[in-house]
Formats: sequence, structure tokens, C-alpha cells
Amino acid sequence: MLGVVGAGTMGAGIAQLGAAAGMRTLLHDPVPDALERGAEGVRRGLAKWAEKGRVGDDAVRLLEPVSSLDELSPCDLVIEAAPERPELKRDLFGALSVVCGDDVVLASNTSSIPITSLAGAAARPENVVGMHFFNPPPLMPLLEVIRAEQSADRALELAQEVGAAMGKDVIVAADGPGFLVNRCGRPFSAEGLRLLQERAATHDQIDRICRLGGGFRMGPFELMDLVGIDVGFEVAKSFTELSFGEPRWRPSPIQARMVAAGRLGRKSGRGYYDYVEGTPHRTDDPEPPEPGGGEGTTVTVLGEGPLADTLRERARSAGYELREGGPTELVVDAGPRPHPSPPGGAPLLVLCAATSLAGRGEQGAVGFHLLPPLEETRLVELTRLPVTQRFAAEAAEEFFAKLGFLAEWVEDAPGLVLGRIVCQLVNEAAFAIGEGVGSADDVDTGLTLGLSHPRGPVAWSEAIGLDHVLAVLDGLWEERREERYRAAPLLRRAARLGRSLRD
Ligand SMILES: NC(=O)c1ccc[n+]([C@@H]2O[C@H](COP(=O)([O-])OP(=O)(O)OC[C@H]3O[C@@H](n4cnc5c(N)ncnc54)[C@H](O)[C@@H]3O)[C@@H](O)[C@H]2O)c1
Repeated sequence: MLGVVGAGTMGAGIAQLGAAAGMRTLLHDPVPDALERGAEGVRRGLAKWAEKGRVGDDAVRLLEPVSSLDELSPCDLVIEAAPERPELKRDLFGALSVVCGDDVVLASNTSSIPITSLAGAAARPENVVGMHFFNPPPLMPLLEVIRAEQSADRALELAQEVGAAMGKDVIVAADGPGFLVNRCGRPFSAEGLRLLQERAATHDQIDRICRLGGGFRMGPFELMDLVGIDVGFEVAKSFTELSFGEPRWRPSPIQARMVAAGRLGRKSGRGYYDYVEGTPHRTDDPEPPEPGGGEGTTVTVLGEGPLADTLRERARSAGYELREGGPTELVVDAGPRPHPSPPGGAPLLVLCAATSLAGRGEQGAVGFHLLPPLEETRLVELTRLPVTQRFAAEAAEEFFAKLGFLAEWVEDAPGLVLGRIVCQLVNEAAFAIGEGVGSADDVDTGLTLGLSHPRGPVAWSEAIGLDHVLAVLDGLWEERREERYRAAPLLRRAARLGRSLRD
């Protein structure tokens, strides 16, 4: 028998999943109206599923709204989805310990409060785990089960079994700031904010680059507007507090300013974008050009690794003639580490990975950055310096257009925009895996199913190559000397040994 405490957005969704999985489900909320609204929501949700044949018509009979906490005493598992206030939740765990029997497993759906501290408030801490559902629970396929310091295997196993019975993909994470999914997803907004602060690009450019260059459904600023800038700011502050000031997780002064100005995102009508009824908050994305038209132009693509290999293939199929030596009309250095450029006056395009364009010291070159795999990539980032001549910039635009890419001009840095965001996602995943927060497979499952990323950071690191990821992080570290860009020990070791983060 399942008990659910708190009949709001999350509690009602969890109760719907419980009844649909065939469990007798008791739903409690101390606020009578909230209980009635929540129960009604569950009935509606189950009726919809019954129409689709996903559950029987009788599933709704498994739901029982209860007005007092005491009525939860016969449950085997109680999932708490009360408001996100530590003291309120600790009181609830204390009260549930009195109401429930010795073997009852108590779970919290908190997204930020340490499960270890909630377990500490229960009479039998070994029975306490986290069960972190994603919003809306009936639709989101992921469940993150969190192991507190005190959690017993039996409690973890029950949480996993119930999650599987509810039809979820279950991953297991150790307790800590943001658990596994929200922790590994943090660089998406954190690095986006850092790029905006440096004026590397505008917020709408960063979002467009993430959508068209990285295949994300939304860029970081659209996402922050959707979640609420105030909510994101509170999360960032809690990460800093729980980690005693980890530099990667520090909030951004931009968040503080936005909150102070009342620009909270969609809910306040204004965040990074303006939200006006009937008007889209951004323009539609352009279509990339059709590849082709190289017409025998000679090009030399230097470098090893997946990016250089794919660029050579794409150039060849766009009609370019590839040269390995001798005079050529264009030189592209696509290796993560710089190659000496061949003599001759051909325009030079260099991958900004291990250094920025300025750091490379190549007068007149154009910088670019792209992340493999290129099959879904529709956009290349380009950068230039004041000394870069117009013909070189035009040659870069033309080359990439003929390969089928849109171009976005941004400011100079190792990794440019997407490279910085994705390499920091990989880095955070490597820190989390190395610290035992979760497995590499669970990180990828968590970010694809929980945050709708186009691929997990581990899969991404395999497609990009760890040498490229490390080149960007070390390049940022060299040029900025900021601790937030230090590479995770596991990442460096895997790169040295030529292994995957999965090994
Ligand atoms: N909304 C999300 O996107 C999301 C995602 C994952 C996790 N969570 C977590 O789930 C929990 C619930 O969030 P929500 O969005 O459903 O909130 P909500 O405000 O929609 O619902 C909270 C419910 O708890 C009830 N409540 C108030 N005091 C209570 C008490 N003392 N005991 C029991 N219930 C009480 C309220 O009446 C309300 O119905 C929070 O811990 C939140 O961090 C939320």
C-alpha cells in the first residue's frame, strides 16, 4: 500500500502513478481544498489513461483521499511531496515515524534538501530514501532514487521496485547537492550565464547556438525563464551553501540583478525574453543552407580526431578537392591541439579548442568551433579579431555554408559558446562519476530522460573525444586561471589512458 503526503502538482501525479500501477494509494493533504483538488486531478488523469487503455476503469477505486496523517499507518511506502521547506519536511518525517510501523519506507520527493538530514529527523533513518520524480510525474519517464548516508539496501530496493512498477526508468544517486541529475545539468545554465556576463554572445545567440549547434530543445536562457529565474537563483545559492563555496556552482550576479528587477521569467511576463500574449518570445530558427558548391576548390584540413575526420568527409562530398600538402586555396586546422600552419597565403581557419584565437597568435586567421557528432549540427560558431581581414572572414562563412552550416559570430574564447557549455557538462559528469554520485550510464539516462538533453554527457564525450574536451577545459584554465575550469581527475585520467568515462 502506498501513501502520498501533499496533494499538489507532484503528489497528485505520484498518486496517479501508484493507482495506475495497481497499488492501493492513500493521498493526504492537511489543506482540505488542496486534497480535494489533488484527488480530482488524479481521477481525471486515471480516466484519461483508462480511455487510452493504459489502465482499467477500476484503477480509480484504488485511490483513497485521507484527511489525517494517522490514516497512513497501514502503508508499506510513504512518499512525501510537501512544500520545499526543510523544517516542515523534518517535522513530517518525525510525525510519520510515529504513525507508521517499523518497516515502512519513507521517501521524499525533495529536489534540493539533503535526504541525509531528513533521515536524521526520522526515528528509523535506515528506512528513509529520496524518490525524486520529475514534473509532470505521470509523463516524465525518469525516477531518481537517492541513497542517504543512513539508507538501508532494503529501503533502496523497495523504492526502485515501486518506481519500476510505475513504469519509470530508475537511476540511483548518492545524496549531495542536486543529487545526480540536477547537479550534472547545472553547467547548462551556469556556463550560459558566465558567457553572457563576459559578453561572449547575447542571450538569444547562446540559446540559438545550443538549439542549432547542440540539438538542445531549448537554450539555457529560455529554460531559466521557464523554470523561474528566482527559483534558479535559490538553487544556485543552495548548491554553494551545501558545497561550502564550490566555484563551479556559484550563483551569477546576473541572476541576482534579474531577481532584484522583478524579471523572473515567463511567470512575470519578462525575463531574458519578453512574454507578450499572442507574440512569440523569439523568432523562428533559420534553415541551414543546402550543402554543395565546392566545385573543386582546394582545401587542406589538418588534424586528427572525429571532428577533423568528419569535416574532411563533408568537404569532399560538398565538392572540395582535399589536399594533404602543397599549395591550397584554404587551410582548416580542425585538431583540438594547434598544428603549425603550412606556408602560403591561403585563408586559415582554426579550431578554438586548446586556445582562443588570440591565444593562438596566428595573425589574420578566423576561429571556429563545432562539436561532433555533426549529423544533427546545423550551426558553426565563428570568431575574428580586429586584425582578421574581411576576405578571411568571408572565406570561413563560404566554406561552412557549402558544408551546410549556418554561421554565428561570437567573441573569442577556447570552445567559443557551445564548446564551453558542453565541455563543462562533461566535466561535471566526470566529477560526479569520480566522486561516486552515480554511474556513467545513469548520468546519461538522467540527463536525456530527466532534462531532455539530446544526448548524455558521457555519450557526448565519446563522440567529441576526451582530448578535445580536455583541450577546451585546459585552454579556459590557462587563459583565465579560474578554478571553475579545472578538469575533473577522472576526465584527465581517462584521456591519458585513452579510455571512456564509462570504463
Ligand atoms: N514542481 C516541480 O517541478 C517539482 C519537481 C521535483 C520535485 N519537486 C518537489 O516536490 C515537492 C512538492 O512540490 P509541488 O510542486 O508539488 O508543490 P505544491 O505547492 O504544488 O504542493 C504542495 C502540497 O503540499 C501541501 N502541504 C502544505 N503543508 C503541508 C504539510 N505540512 N504536510 C503535507 N502537505 C502539506 C499543500 O497544501 C500542497 O497541496 C517539493 O519538495 C518540491 O521541491 C517539485
